[in-house]
Amino acid sequence: MKNLKYILYSVAAVSLLYSCTPAGGNYAGKEYMPDMAHSVGFESQSYANYSRNNWDSASVINRKFLSRPLNPAAGTIPRGYAGFSFASPEAYDSIMNILRGGNQLNAIAVPVNGKVPYHYGNTEEERIRASKDIVGNPFPISEAGLAKGKELYDIYCGICHGEKGDGAGYLVRDANPAKGDLGGVYPAAPANFMLDTFYISTNGRFYHAIMYGKNVMGGYAEKLSFEERWQVIHYIRSLQATAKGLAYSASANTLNPSFAVPAAQVKKLATAPPPPPPAPAGGEGSGTKSKSGK
Ligand code: HEC
Repeated sequence: MKNLKYILYSVAAVSLLYSCTPAGGNYAGKEYMPDMAHSVGFESQSYANYSRNNWDSASVINRKFLSRPLNPAAGTIPRGYAGFSFASPEAYDSIMNILRGGNQLNAIAVPVNGKVPYHYGNTEEERIRASKDIVGNPFPISEAGLAKGKELYDIYCGICHGEKGDGAGYLVRDANPAKGDLGGVYPAAPANFMLDTFYISTNGRFYHAIMYGKNVMGGYAEKLSFEERWQVIHYIRSLQATAKGLAYSASANTLNPSFAVPAAQVKKLATAPPPPPPAPAGGEGSGTKSKSGK
């Protein structure tokens, strides 16, 4: 009899413990009276959210709405754009629109974290493939962009490739045999962007070099954001154009129109009249149209 009591006690204890099933995966586990113990934070794109909220049968909140991909919260700024001055809400909207791929024929949408995937590997074959595939600059040529590009180029590239892009940066030029681990002699000549081969190569050759570097040149992917890389390339193009007496600016591009669109031209494209609205659905007109179409 005494034993039976202990057995009953232990069965009760075990079943009590068992009822506290552990949490795992998307399952939060069972709890006794969980009300208000958990916030209503939710994961987007998951219907399982709000599983604890059985209060909302009369609610106006639509779970489907909450679980679909949502726009970033107002005021979200992509990585690398913190220093941008947004003069007005309209300026903010128009910049975000450009970053997300609106407004431009050749735009690439930049995710809000500023990371744009690069689908080329760090090999010679991939370098050639990138040079073949990537022709144009996704950003239009703008004055602000060229100024930013110059600033970044002088910091990150000009020290080797030269302020004028002629491959004679001060690290190379001022090599002094009396100083330095390498005997003061720069070990390899940086590319000279004034050579014909760099005039005719597409932007992909430059972008790939920034992403991975080449031989003794290291990559700059971690130092330059997606847009910064492209503004540096704009600036290199402008150096090339200046040397040849050609135009590469916000108003004109006579260097090579397929490399980039001047900002002035982009505005023209954006203000082009919208396409005519589609014919209204239903009615006699559309009926006859679809019949004759078949
Ligand atoms: C420390 C010196 C150094 C710096 C800084 C540097 N480079 Fe280079 N770069 C080189 C050298 C050296 C080469 C030649 C590599 C080779 O061909 O072996 C080169 C080659 C290149 C090439 C030619 C690649 C090809 O396809 O032949 C490009 C384009 C280039 N660099 C762009 C840049 C840009 C843009 C920056 C700045 C973000 C930069 N480099 C910064 C040293 C440098």
